[in-house]
Amino acid sequence: MAVPEPLRQSLVAAGQDNVLSQVNTLNDAKLSLLVEQLEKLDLSAMKSLIDTYVTSAPAFSMSSDTKPAIYYPADATSTVRSYDAAKYIAAGEDLLRAGKVACFTVAGGQGSRLGYDGPKGCYPAGAVTGKPLFQLFAEGIKATGNKYGTPVPWLVMTSPLNHEATVGFFKEHSHFGLDANNVMFFPQGTMPSFDLATGKMLMSDAYTLAASPDGHGGSLKALYTSGAIATLKERGVEHISYFQVDNPLVRVADPLFLGLHASAPDSSGQMSSKMLPKAYAEEKVGLFAEIDGRTQVVEYSDMPMELQRETNADGSLRFLAGNPAIHAFSVEFVEKVNTDPACTLPYHRAVKKIAHINTETGEAVTPAEPNGVKLERFVFDAMPFAERSIILETSRVQEFAPIKNASGIDSAESSRELQTERAAIWLEAAGVAVPRDGHAKADCVLEIGAMTALDAGDLAKADLPKAIERGQKLSL
Ligand code: UTP
Repeated sequence: MAVPEPLRQSLVAAGQDNVLSQVNTLNDAKLSLLVEQLEKLDLSAMKSLIDTYVTSAPAFSMSSDTKPAIYYPADATSTVRSYDAAKYIAAGEDLLRAGKVACFTVAGGQGSRLGYDGPKGCYPAGAVTGKPLFQLFAEGIKATGNKYGTPVPWLVMTSPLNHEATVGFFKEHSHFGLDANNVMFFPQGTMPSFDLATGKMLMSDAYTLAASPDGHGGSLKALYTSGAIATLKERGVEHISYFQVDNPLVRVADPLFLGLHASAPDSSGQMSSKMLPKAYAEEKVGLFAEIDGRTQVVEYSDMPMELQRETNADGSLRFLAGNPAIHAFSVEFVEKVNTDPACTLPYHRAVKKIAHINTETGEAVTPAEPNGVKLERFVFDAMPFAERSIILETSRVQEFAPIKNASGIDSAESSRELQTERAAIWLEAAGVAVPRDGHAKADCVLEIGAMTALDAGDLAKADLPKAIERGQKLSL
């Protein structure tokens, strides 16, 4: 077998034929694997991609027409912006009853900060039960289907690196009680990594490009190219509830959010988001802003610090709305993003240490300093393509307890504390006494499974103790 001549010529034209330097050492099977990877690349666009993102970094310039994004407050009776929550909850419930909503988990990340050996969704996250993240979502999806009388389809995006392990995990656990026909898996795409100085593609061995998943923004393309969107349309699904694999507290299909997304007068029903109030000005979260009339997310590193520190007359932060990565989008919007050339998502570059081979000598190189660029797309960059996008406020304790790090902020421990705190608040609202310490922190470990309650109101139907004991571990 030889490298097909048109491919060789395209590589030469793109200045990337270094990836062929070791082909004489490869057997047919390995060469064919290399050719397969190379044929998937858009080599004609590579030069401009490298010029824009690799050998230089795109400069971000903030439009002078940048305002804080407006949002629906969590408290619908707030004088800032009141709205008829019951009406929108009913609208969201109607969508769920009619089978018009699918859940979507992006689980293709590498989870390098957590350092867990396996897909992150398999990580034991339940505060008391240690149930894996995938099981917690599966139970939320099952409970939602039961509550509204229609099963909710679930899409799980994997990456080529964890696809098999993820699908295997679901099979091993009989899809956690869900009908396997309602759980769809598809891998996202990958992007090659590039040498920071030369812009050449890096190789991890003589026949493998050093590549990584193309970011959670790759989900919009993968939804389409995998055929998932076509399947959803056949099933009559109109809206997708999007969340990340690392947040065990997420409300998998929130009727209020879906109702606002699909029917609020200021929503085009294309793409909506939840927001978390920033705890302090310097907090490192992306911020919702309205730029030139379009709602979008600005990365904290791009937003000037003086703007992030600006306050309103009452002392609150002017740019308050942080991004917890909870979205809803319509099936139609995903199609638009994939078919309208004006809707191309930009890349974001990350400069990293990337192990590779010297393509001339074949020797392995383990860099001591960052040497390469990884390119990713981010899902929130699709927001400006929506005509009108709404945002609903949520809170950490009710809905955001991500497990990103092995310890400290956003770790399993902080997640356990937030899971306990939410359960404590729900139980107290139902009349159960919860022990608290001198800092008003719940002095116990609690977990309320989605099959018991999807929200505080559902607890009214549950069999509850009168009081929780100090130090007790209780899963309901
Ligand atoms: P993170 O930004 O936390 O990245 O992903 P990560 O890869 O999981 O973790 P680190 O940064 O290596 O520690 C946020 C969400 O987006 C998904 C992740 O699985 C997670 O649900 N994601 C991220 C993808 O699905 N694909 C990607 O290429 C990147």
